[in-house]
Amino acid sequence: MQSFAGKTAVVTGGAAGIGRALVERCLTEGMNVVIADVEVPALEATLDALHSFGSRVCGRRVDVSQAEEVEALAQFARSTFGDIHLLFNNAGVGAGNTAWESTLKDWTWVMGVNLWGVIHGISRFVPDMLTHGEPGYVINTASIAGLVRGHHSAAYATTKHAVVALSEQLQVEFERTGAKLACAALCPSWVNTRINEGGRNRPGHLLNPDANRPVTPEMQRHWEEIQAAAAEATPPSVIADFVFEGMRAGKHYLMPHAESKAWVERRFEGILRDY
Ligand SMILES: NC(=O)c1ccc[n+]([C@@H]2O[C@H](COP(=O)([O-])OP(=O)(O)OC[C@H]3O[C@@H](n4cnc5c(N)ncnc54)[C@H](O)[C@@H]3O)[C@@H](O)[C@H]2O)c1
Repeated sequence: MQSFAGKTAVVTGGAAGIGRALVERCLTEGMNVVIADVEVPALEATLDALHSFGSRVCGRRVDVSQAEEVEALAQFARSTFGDIHLLFNNAGVGAGNTAWESTLKDWTWVMGVNLWGVIHGISRFVPDMLTHGEPGYVINTASIAGLVRGHHSAAYATTKHAVVALSEQLQVEFERTGAKLACAALCPSWVNTRINEGGRNRPGHLLNPDANRPVTPEMQRHWEEIQAAAAEATPPSVIADFVFEGMRAGKHYLMPHAESKAWVERRFEGILRDY
């Protein structure tokens, strides 16, 4: 896809982090943008900060894990700007730890946002994108955790592998049907965002009973290490620039961190050797 000006993008999780950088890049490309996010104060602050783009940007509170909210988002986007050309299924959260220690509430929340959110986006937006027939792209934010093994959260790793599989499947289906659409899985390593504070948006009914337990020194140390890694990580704007280069080049796997390609190679070698 080469030309973006005058076209319309929908960005889930667009009020912060990678999503917000994608929103800003879409706007500087001359696009219209609908920001969908569950966190209302962040959404309002983002819309305020982008007011110079006038009516080209608007927002809506949406929980992507809820099918009817994504349905309402699609109607809102269509009635505001007409046809949609870029769909960024980007909203994501992390929780839990080992596969057996993660609670069913951890699994439900992470699967709901990271996997069902992407499924809802595809099932609600892609049919219309096929019908209008203009070129377009679906970019699903997975993670390098979706291409290698060993993430500290089983639920997060499971959803990100699933998002890579779903993106590959969607691309094959576009090819088979001769659609003018393409799909890519965005698979970054660490990016400097608030992903580690994702619990700020966790619904009350999916909180673990011990959510307010006192922080142990070990938990505190782990948290500080993660925060330090995130703070030194790639700025989200670099990821957004990489995504646009990738769309212009017709890519289907977007790995902004060059070193991660070697990790993927090692995983597949490991699979063939059975580690
Ligand atoms: N930051 C990283 O190092 C990193 C690395 C690889 C992949 N990712 C992925 O990038 C994506 C964006 O995360 P980020 O790092 O920018 O984190 P972030 O927390 O800064 O931004 C995530 C955004 O998603 C929104 N959100 C959360 N739950 C939602 C829901 N149910 N419905 C709608 N919006 C919701 C949040 O309000 C927030 O604005 C996620 O899918 C994440 O898994 C992040």
